[in-house]
Amino acid sequence: MKKKIWYTYDDIHRVIKQLSIKIKNSGVHYDAMIAIGGGGFIPARILRCFLNIPIYAVTTAYYDNDHAGQVTDSVKKIQWLDPLPESLRGKNVLVVDEVDDSRVTLEFCLNELAKEDFASIGVAVLHEKIKEKAGKIPENMPYFSGITVPDWWINYPWDAEDIDEHNSLAAQSKID
Ligand code: G4P
Ligand code: MG
Repeated sequence: MKKKIWYTYDDIHRVIKQLSIKIKNSGVHYDAMIAIGGGGFIPARILRCFLNIPIYAVTTAYYDNDHAGQVTDSVKKIQWLDPLPESLRGKNVLVVDEVDDSRVTLEFCLNELAKEDFASIGVAVLHEKIKEKAGKIPENMPYFSGITVPDWWINYPWDAEDIDEHNSLAAQSKID
């Protein structure tokens, strides 16, 4: 079974501060964030306290299709910036998500957003999993990650039904 890890809101806040420093040090001024929901919403909101730029959003859903034993991944739009708001035209935008896992969702979103009239697109993720990636981030696209993590299943606090139990598991996994 895949190993699991728990992160608290505090862990995440600290990592996002580090992430914001990397983004600022890049020298590119981003005008807005585009959060990929649902996982990117809370990271984007925390990042806003360091970057002070507005948050726009798109939402996708990821499906594992199993057709006669053949597993294929697909990503669908739940909500999109369609039409693109005038306020984003010609701007530097930073696409924000919680985790860089297979990159299937990221590739889908980045390819769709690349069709729009932005000055530039960068991508920022909280957790970058070290593993083989099925999807690709376009070459030369600025990429920022808060921290690199092993290929374990991450339990995020916003998914916790019992946040106290979640925090205990996080504390325990720091000792183990
Ligand atoms: P990627 O392009 O960002 O690498 O994401 P990928 O398509 O590989 O991920 C498919 C879904 O699985 C995404 O959810 C992603 O957030 C979620 N996921 C991947 N690894 C983990 C993990 O370790 N822990 C948790 N909790 N989720 C993980 P989604 O379809 O975007 O749903 P949502 O939760 O963001 O709404
Ligand atoms: Mg997601």
